[in-house]
Amino acid sequence: MKIAVIRETAAGERRVAASPETVRKFKALGAELAVETGAGLSASVSDAEYEAAGATVTDRAATVQNAGIILCVQGPEPESIAGAAPGAWLVGSLNPFGERARIDRYAAAGLEALAMEFMPRITRAQSMDILSSQSNLSGYKAVLDAAAEYGRAFPMMMTAAGTVSAARVFVMGVGVAGLQAIATARRLGAQVSATDVRAATKEQIESLGAKPIFVDAVKGIEGEGSGGYATEMSPEYQKAQAELVSSHIAKQDIVITTALIPGRAAPRLISDAQIGTMKPGSVIVDLAVEQGGNVEGAVPGEIALRHGVKIVGHRNMPSRLAADTSALFARNLYNFLSAYWDRDANAPALPDDDEIVKGIRVTQGGKVVNERLLG
Ligand code: NAI
Repeated sequence: MKIAVIRETAAGERRVAASPETVRKFKALGAELAVETGAGLSASVSDAEYEAAGATVTDRAATVQNAGIILCVQGPEPESIAGAAPGAWLVGSLNPFGERARIDRYAAAGLEALAMEFMPRITRAQSMDILSSQSNLSGYKAVLDAAAEYGRAFPMMMTAAGTVSAARVFVMGVGVAGLQAIATARRLGAQVSATDVRAATKEQIESLGAKPIFVDAVKGIEGEGSGGYATEMSPEYQKAQAELVSSHIAKQDIVITTALIPGRAAPRLISDAQIGTMKPGSVIVDLAVEQGGNVEGAVPGEIALRHGVKIVGHRNMPSRLAADTSALFARNLYNFLSAYWDRDANAPALPDDDEIVKGIRVTQGGKVVNERLLG
């Protein structure tokens, strides 16, 4: 089995889908590895390191030639991997909703596309979950970005010249990214509060030493919705949440928003009027900016200024920590493929009735086969 690792070409994408460690591990399974020249450079991995791990480093055409599996971070154009073996698997973060037309073209090209972001949230799949591995580091980086844009310190400091007060940080949306944002802001010495619609997060917030801010008058989601995800809230809940946020946000220095609802636009959590109540110099980081944004006035790829408040809207947050996010992404791909490896066939085999396979397989035999795309 030949596995190809291609160099990412999407604007601003610095990650790579394999690390020297995963190249070694795939080799140990019996695979042959080809890596495109320069694939790891922006993630701090040189061609020489891939070669030392046992891969052949070469141009795109030779890399994909006769490959049975192609690993990528973002989905490539199908024409750019045309030399692959018939029925080759394309494994990566393929953005099936956002790039629906390209999924059709993978089917037409006879590729079997496996969209890793569709990984079901079951215990067995935790080590294969790219959304978790990437969100965790995004939550961390969001706090560092906020600290860099904030013209004050995070911790309280008592100096001979006077006292600097601690920054107040509010985290909205306490999934994987939000939990890491809380932990990071706490480590920097901030006073942290957080909110979510899922009641189960209240205890998690407290266990990290932060203060939960919850709508009590109207019911949120008790426990967790399907797959641990949130769903859209009732208008009554949304109104109560907006009132709660209004009274709390005016006292905050930093707000990190991470709220997402799968398959939908991100919920709007902060209005322009609410931003107007914040102190000038405050900073908001909107991690949902590419899914429509939690914050009114957030602009993808820009730092917008509204009422003296900076709204940070960096695109592709995981790419801003490409060395670490690539290493974890690469392990997610390895953990998935190695779990299905058939040593006798020297190739992985995906059973049709397997929950993970049904979750992530989007094209097969010339057709789009995933029910989330067909529904
Ligand atoms: P996500 O990225 O889809 O959403 C982030 C957070 O925003 C969630 O906590 C969600 O409840 C919250 N949110 C949505 N609408 C909101 C609103 N209107 N106001 C405030 N908050 C709102 O979620 P993520 O980070 O992917 O994790 C979701 C859950 O899945 C967590 O409970 C996590 O522990 C669980 N999980 C389970 C895994 C497994 O079992 N394999 C792997 C990873 C996560």
